[in-house]
Amino acid sequence: MFDAVFVGGGVIGLASAWRAAERGLEVCVLERDRAGSGASRVAAGILAPDSEAEPGHEPFVPFARRSLELYPAFVDGLGVDVGFWQCGMLAVAVDADEVDQIRHEFRGLRWLTPSECRALEPGLAPSIRGGLFSEQEASIDPRRLVDALASRVDVREGVEVTAVARDSVTLAGGETIAAGRVVVCAGAWSGFAGLPVRPVKGQVVRLRGELPAQRMLRTEHMYIVPRQNGEVVVGATVEERGFDTTVTAGAVHELLREAYRVLPEIAELELVDVSAGLRPGSPDNGPLVGEWEDGLLVATGHYRNGILLAPITAETIAALLAGDEPPPEALPFAPQRLVTA
Ligand code: FAD
Ligand code: GLY
Repeated sequence: MFDAVFVGGGVIGLASAWRAAERGLEVCVLERDRAGSGASRVAAGILAPDSEAEPGHEPFVPFARRSLELYPAFVDGLGVDVGFWQCGMLAVAVDADEVDQIRHEFRGLRWLTPSECRALEPGLAPSIRGGLFSEQEASIDPRRLVDALASRVDVREGVEVTAVARDSVTLAGGETIAAGRVVVCAGAWSGFAGLPVRPVKGQVVRLRGELPAQRMLRTEHMYIVPRQNGEVVVGATVEERGFDTTVTAGAVHELLREAYRVLPEIAELELVDVSAGLRPGSPDNGPLVGEWEDGLLVATGHYRNGILLAPITAETIAALLAGDEPPPEALPFAPQRLVTA
């Protein structure tokens, strides 16, 4: 019998299973499609605890910063190159309104003049009005990350789970698998287990060529993520459209137009791929990591930051499975906060 069965082979299920196995537990991941075929393979791979923080989510920053601190050892442990790059994030303003919006994010960073921004990134459009640079923020290639994680754990692909309990899962064919504990990591589809998680659609464009920037760039409406292997990701829409993953001409137009406004050289790159994924959003858009009702363990609801939060989520779940104390930064994300009396 497995010590733990993980339902869902996205970055969260794979990372959590791997860290649990590293603690000596016997685990397996049940994935109804292919490992990483959900949001994880669409994600841009931004690891930005401060830039991604939204007002009103104060516990997010220490949780996310701790996860970023864990990242170097996490990727070293995988033993293959997954594109981890501490390149920093430059938030830029293209007009006067955006200057106010971006200055509002201040976070103790020094406001950079247009020429200081261009000294960092010479390819920026002449119209840039200034910006903020978060030097410690990083990126990773989520596709290489999930492939590396999947090679480190026992993943059963093409296996759909239809019902879960504290210590067993039922498969689509009717078979039941008993386990010490069950962990639901089914991303935007976690509702099948009674969890309050909704899909939030995001579309991204993948380009390739000579890198037009050496840092991540963003405005209020768009981001650009360069990778050292020549891939450049432009994202992303945020759409409440249920389980719809249609790629639309309008989204591609808006993303590329905004990217071109910031970094005109983007127009020279090869257009490789456009994809849409479903972010798992909880009612307060914070992750659900820990014990849900009836002893079920859950790790879902990571919304826009599941790649960033994978290491700390995995540490939390592995600690709970091993009977150890979870990291203190994880306590505000215990799912019980959403259980109504
Ligand atoms: P998923 O990756 O969706 O995996 C869930 C898995 O569960 C799927 O493979 C699915 O097939 C499987 N599954 C579902 N139901 C069942 C079942 N009943 N039985 C068996 N298997 C099942 N995050 C960042 O940190 N940085 C970013 O830059 C970033 N950019 C993003 C850009 C876009 C456009 C999108 C859409 C998301 C982005 N995210 C980013 C968010 C990130 O992708 C998600 O938070 C993260 O991938 C969630 O991982 P997950 O493992 O919970 O879900
Ligand atoms: N964190 C980037 C996104 O969700 O689009």
